[in-house]
Amino acid sequence: MATQGKTKTPNLITLKEALKLSRKQNIENHRNFINPELDKLLGLLNFDKLFVRAHDCSIWDSDGNQYLDFLGAYGAMNLGHNNSEVIAALGSVETLPNLLQVSLNPLAGALARNLAQITPGELQYSFFENSGAEAVEGALKLARASTGKSKIVSCYGAFHGEILGALSVSEREKNQKPFSPLLPGISFVPFGNAETLKQALSANDVAAFLVEPIQGEGGVIVPHDGYLHDVRKICSETQTLLIVDEIQTGFGRTGRIFACEYENISPDIMCVGKSLGGGIMPLSAYIATEKVWKNAHDSLGKAILDTSTFGGNSRALAAGLSALEIILREDLARQSAEKGKYFFAELQKLKEKYSFIKEVRGRGLMLGIEFTQPKDNFLNTFTGGKLKNLSYEYLGSLIADELINKHHIITSYTLNNPKVIRLEPPLTVSYKQIEMLIEALDAVCKRVNL
Ligand SMILES: Cc1ncc(COP(=O)(O)O)c(C=O)c1O
Repeated sequence: MATQGKTKTPNLITLKEALKLSRKQNIENHRNFINPELDKLLGLLNFDKLFVRAHDCSIWDSDGNQYLDFLGAYGAMNLGHNNSEVIAALGSVETLPNLLQVSLNPLAGALARNLAQITPGELQYSFFENSGAEAVEGALKLARASTGKSKIVSCYGAFHGEILGALSVSEREKNQKPFSPLLPGISFVPFGNAETLKQALSANDVAAFLVEPIQGEGGVIVPHDGYLHDVRKICSETQTLLIVDEIQTGFGRTGRIFACEYENISPDIMCVGKSLGGGIMPLSAYIATEKVWKNAHDSLGKAILDTSTFGGNSRALAAGLSALEIILREDLARQSAEKGKYFFAELQKLKEKYSFIKEVRGRGLMLGIEFTQPKDNFLNTFTGGKLKNLSYEYLGSLIADELINKHHIITSYTLNNPKVIRLEPPLTVSYKQIEMLIEALDAVCKRVNL
């Protein structure tokens, strides 16, 4: 199979043909040309469907079945799928130069100005990238250049991306081990524990402390009230820059535009991404205060410390400008807070009903359910014996399997904590759709409790 496709005269699949591939042809292409093991895993869980249409919270498969999206692309889908205003915004820039590095793109200046207005405190200067992981790495580089120090402290269970630098500050042994050695100078402290952070920073020799205001992939972990406030104070006292990663929590997801608003703190650098691109374009940024930015870019010779070929292309920026306009106009943060409150209360009722649900956590529409170890025969019941040797670790994906295949609702587990199912629907989700998820989850839990 390895050489399939290497013919003398290439027989390429056109876009038109690619759009008409059957589910079977699609699976074959993935098995042969992308990742055979992933294909196997998705096949076992019946996740290998062919989705052909998406609008707002709904997605349709090639058999015409409608699904509800409660995964929301890990926080990238705050505006719902294929938002028509964001798509129209792309049309409005179709004749502009999309990639032209030797100029000052007016859309970049406008979006940076807008971000400076809606982000907390003194955050002012933005650098645009494509992915969240790139924004995290840019922020780390800026922190080093700005302070002249090299050490970075992050949190156990943190997730900041999969590329080498971002992975180095994302603590999970299973994810890090195959790629070691990772970046030197990185250490970890427990998330939510200000005392250990204080000790870790006490020598004043750390460039930055990097933290998510709510750990997403760590299992939707909300720190206790006052934690971020203490973190801010400790960082200031030890001349450590505070980098807050709002890539998943940002733009209304947690019931505020940014989750760190809950404690009224302002970081020295903030990372944003995911929903900034309106669910259409890849777009991320790191945003720094004037002091941090100017310490690093302190002369003409240091005007360019970071570059990106595609970062800040016109189409992505147009999507970002449009997305921000919609998020504020539709008050998506308030919608998230109100719907999230209802959703959380309904999930709590399920928790009272099933001892198998250990905890419901989260804020706004960033919710997680942690499950306890179910009865021994559970894996057999759920998989018809297919996966009986799979560990408890895969429990979250089996719940997600039931939800997608029996109830047509898309969810997933959190990457660093697979016993947790995350619920992050578009912020436009309706109360009726939330009720549908609750009914489906109730039915799944009933089966687990058998
Ligand atoms: C908090 C946080 N930071 C960074 C990232 C990495 O973003 P990306 O996948 O766009 O590189 C993620 C992705 O889930 C995230 O949740």
